Amino acid sequence: MELRVSACILLLLCATSGVDGGKILVWPSEVSHWINMKLLLETLVDRGHQVTVLVPSSSMFMNSSEPAGYGYLPFNVSVSKEFIEKFMQDFLQFSIYEMDHMSYFQIYARFMELLKINMKVSLKFLDGVVKSEPIMKKLKDGNYDVLLADPVYPGSDLTADLLGIPLVFSLRFSLANNWERLCGQLPAPPSYVPGAMSKLTDKMNFSERVWNFLFYALQDIVLEQYMWKEGDKYYSEVRGTPTSACKMMGNADIWLMRTYWDFDFPRPFLPNFKFVGGIHCKPSKPLPKHMEKFVESSGDDGIVVFSLGTMVKNLTSDKANMIASALAQVPQKVLWRYSGTKPDTLGSNTKLYDWIPQNDLLGE
Ligand SMILES: *[C@@H]1O[C@H](CO)[C@@H](O)[C@H](O)[C@H]1NC(C)=O
Ligand SMILES: *[C@@H]1O[C@H](CO)[C@@H](O)[C@H](O)[C@H]1NC(C)=O
Ligand SMILES: *[C@@H]1O[C@H](CO)[C@@H](O)[C@H](O)[C@H]1NC(C)=O
Ligand SMILES: *[C@@H]1O[C@H](CO)[C@@H](O)[C@H](O)[C@H]1NC(C)=O
Repeated sequence: MELRVSACILLLLCATSGVDGGKILVWPSEVSHWINMKLLLETLVDRGHQVTVLVPSSSMFMNSSEPAGYGYLPFNVSVSKEFIEKFMQDFLQFSIYEMDHMSYFQIYARFMELLKINMKVSLKFLDGVVKSEPIMKKLKDGNYDVLLADPVYPGSDLTADLLGIPLVFSLRFSLANNWERLCGQLPAPPSYVPGAMSKLTDKMNFSERVWNFLFYALQDIVLEQYMWKEGDKYYSEVRGTPTSACKMMGNADIWLMRTYWDFDFPRPFLPNFKFVGGIHCKPSKPLPKHMEKFVESSGDDGIVVFSLGTMVKNLTSDKANMIASALAQVPQKVLWRYSGTKPDTLGSNTKLYDWIPQNDLLGE
């Protein structure tokens, strides 16, 4: 039965424009999660679906005034944009700069502190949907066929349950695969499935397997304490009956995993987990003239595209110089997306750009 429901949703998502489209509700997300989601939504709209995106009033990346093929459903949240921005900065500061100078114990203490704030803020966002009568009324009256969400932003499972509609996740991974394992029931024997973020591979010797086992256990305890406990309390209160937030997450009909079998280590999967890595790629457009010239000058050596993602704009000069001198040693021409000050050790093969058309550089 569940499989049949999943197949229906997949058909719904893949239906071509000849078929009447579905009504798709989309859960809010931020930074690269939203950039990724946006491309998915454009394709859904192209295929004739009617797409509506929930947009929190204090979003950093979502803009409900931006013209798009999909509609927006703005909702109010009591957390200010400044607070979110400050939190993002703190989190980056921690994960890029501070961690290097901390002991394991300090890293965990700080990580738990950040996790706690993150959960608190997430639930405030959720208040703006499930505890807002006008929004819940709009959602019910909307008669949506399915809710599409990145579970990194919690509460979509609760909302889908309240609306009585199927749920489709789009996820890269969770810490130590906690959500996929415990909620999605994905098998993960610690002897050969390395926990995400453990820095291990699928070829582990005995001591590494022991460490992997402990890594899973440790993350599970931390997340239970700082995420699931809070979630259970909130979900139970809203539903008026004891509810496990993890079980709710497990109710998702399909998990679209943004990776591919050639990128991750082999591991057992379930039929409702689908690899969709590269789903956001598009045919490449011509490059700007100056960039085309630089890329062509590399001859047979090819190019290297280097970027630290959406959020990292600058580095300490030590780190920037270390990266620059390493890049200077490769035979390829390097395009580095970096807007900090130019490192002294920058090689003649490397050019800095504030922004790079990654899809056009790497696409076919
Ligand atoms: C949102 O989009 C509108 C329309 O494109 C634009 O005028 C406005 O500056 C954008 N706001 C932000 C905060 O980016
Ligand atoms: C959000 O807040 C604004 C300003 O306080 C108000 O006008 C609007 O009705 C609110 N929207 C919802 C959906 O509650
Ligand atoms: C296991 O591998 C790690 C990393 O390569 C190594 O440091 C360690 O000594 C190995 N342990 C055993 C028992 O072989
Ligand atoms: C990066 O830039 C921000 C804003 O200009 C600044 O506050 C921060 O200290 C810089 N970080 C580093 C590592 O230089």
